[in-house]
Amino acid sequence: MTNAASEYFNRNWELYTESVNSGALFHQEMYATFGAILNDHFPDQAFSIADFGCGDLRSTAKLLSAPVFKIKNLIGVDGAADVLNLARANTAHLACEKTFMCEDMLSACAKLPDASLDVIFSSYALHHYSLAQKEAFLQNCQRVLRPDGIFVLVDGVRARHQTREQWIEVLESNFLAKAQHSPKDHEQCFEHVRSSDFPETLETFASIAQKQAWKKFQIALDKGHCACQVFSK
Ligand SMILES: C[S@@+](CC[C@H](N)C(=O)[O-])C[C@H]1O[C@@H](n2cnc3c(N)ncnc32)[C@H](O)[C@@H]1O
Repeated sequence: MTNAASEYFNRNWELYTESVNSGALFHQEMYATFGAILNDHFPDQAFSIADFGCGDLRSTAKLLSAPVFKIKNLIGVDGAADVLNLARANTAHLACEKTFMCEDMLSACAKLPDASLDVIFSSYALHHYSLAQKEAFLQNCQRVLRPDGIFVLVDGVRARHQTREQWIEVLESNFLAKAQHSPKDHEQCFEHVRSSDFPETLETFASIAQKQAWKKFQIALDKGHCACQVFSK
C-alpha cells in the first residue's frame, strides 16, 4: 500500500461503500454534475480520461457506461491494491483501453506524458494531501492535460473562515443523520477523518487556479462541506 489513507480504505472499503450509498457524500449529485460537464465539453466526441484516487471505480464506470460517452482510454489510479482489483472488475464491460496504476496519485501523475489526456477526475481523494502536495498535483494535471482539457475535482471543502475542526463537526453531523453506521463503525470512520482529512477552502483553490494560470476555474456544485470544481486548461 502506498500511503496511510490507502491502507485505511483497503481495510475498510465496505464501510466506505455504505457511506457512499447513504448519500452522506452526495455522490449521486456530484457524479450527475460531472456527467453534465462531460456532456458539455465532449458532445459526440471521444475523450481520454484518468481517475485519481479512483477507489473501486463503481460510480465512474456507471457514468461512463452511458451510450452518449465515447471513451478512448481510461486510467484508474489508486494506492489501495485490493480496491483497485474491484475497479478492474467494475470496468470490465467498458470497451476502451484501460490502465490501472496502484500508486500514489502524485507519482502516477508525474509519469504521464505532457498533453496526453482530455479529462482528469478526482473524487474525495485530494484532501488527504498537504496544501503543497495539492498544488503540485494540480500543476501536474495542467501539464498532462491537452489544450482545452479539464480537471474535475470533487472533494470536501471548508467554508471561508471555517476551521478544520468545524468542518469535521459538519461532516460528522451529516454522517450521523444519513449513514446509520454502528457506533463502532462511526468511530472508525471518524478516526480516519480526524487523522487524514485536510480540506481546503474554495477560495484557496481559486487562488491556486489563478497562480497556475488555468484558463478558467468554476464551482460547478457547492453542497457546503463538499463541492465539484472545474479547472480548464
Ligand atoms: C474516499 S475514497 C474515494 C473513492 C472514489 N473516488 C469515490 O469518490 O468514491 C479515497 C480513495 O483515494 C485513494 N487515495 C487516497 N490518497 C491517495 C494517494 N495519495 N495516492 C493514491 N490513492 C490515494 C484511497 O486509496 C481511496 O481508494
